[in-house]
Amino acid sequence: MYNELKIFSGSSNPDLADEIAKHLNAELGKRNIIKFSNENIKVKIEESVRGKDVFVVQTSCPPVSDNIMEMLIMIHALRGASADRITAVLPYFPYVRSDKKDEPRISITAKLMADLIKTAGADRVLTMDLHAAQIQGFFDMPADQLLALPILCNYFKKKNLQNIVVVAGDVGRAKLNIKYAERLKASLAILEKRRDGDKEKAKIANVIGNVKGKTAIMFDDEILTGGSLMELVKALKREGALDIYAGITHGILSKRAVPNIARSPLKELVITNTVPLPKEKQIDKIKVLSVAKLFAKAIENIHLGRPISTLFQTGGEEECL
Ligand code: R5P
Repeated sequence: MYNELKIFSGSSNPDLADEIAKHLNAELGKRNIIKFSNENIKVKIEESVRGKDVFVVQTSCPPVSDNIMEMLIMIHALRGASADRITAVLPYFPYVRSDKKDEPRISITAKLMADLIKTAGADRVLTMDLHAAQIQGFFDMPADQLLALPILCNYFKKKNLQNIVVVAGDVGRAKLNIKYAERLKASLAILEKRRDGDKEKAKIANVIGNVKGKTAIMFDDEILTGGSLMELVKALKREGALDIYAGITHGILSKRAVPNIARSPLKELVITNTVPLPKEKQIDKIKVLSVAKLFAKAIENIHLGRPISTLFQTGGEEECL
């Protein structure tokens, strides 16, 4: 049993951190962050954390490098201030797609991130929907990965859609999307996606499975430029799918993703608030679900030394704080 729980927020997603704290009936810890004219960052913890169980919430969103540095400096400051235990809470983990050496002489940067977080002084990590499940093995400390699956599935269940086919945007995603299909009592289709080197634009070569006359819901971990999604919508339409929805955990929505989605035949894109969606990107077709209650419940369980496995089923919903 740890002493008092304390939550600190970085600058990346203060609304989510605030929502998490509210679910826990806690106030965000006081800290001051300054960026000097030489771009060095200073973090000062403005209250005592001696002996406390501290959680630092920082997601990966622009300015990505600054947000990473800020989190590392904050963890380092908390370690120096004698926090008893520090958990880095990273709703969207930085450099998560850089998880393999698929070309010579490149860095597996997600591993570097894991090492830096440990070196800064974190004792454990709490994150959500990593690009590949094996990334959990990059951490030389306990790392818990929450899933947006129950939150996304509950949303789509409430819509009472009929004749659903769950779509995996690429072969690598198929295994996880079987779980979505089981929850939604749906069939599964898999797209064969090809990407050329570092090019962000993907191409769909084949659709494996039957989508004709069905309501298609594609689930994925992240949407960046929206290129994969737009290609997928085209391919599914070509194969005769009726309505097409997408449920994607991390909505980065860079470049022309939002106007392209607005113009496309996609019925709705459902994302979560692991990454903040700026006002200018908010359109009716994009629905944002909150993961705050799930993170709050996970933080509470970690603090109290209870399992978090139940949350993979409930998404934190049934045991509201
Ligand atoms: C890739 O494997 C991921 O799961 C996503 O499909 C990808 O990050 C989406 O990127 P974009 O939106 O730029 O096509």
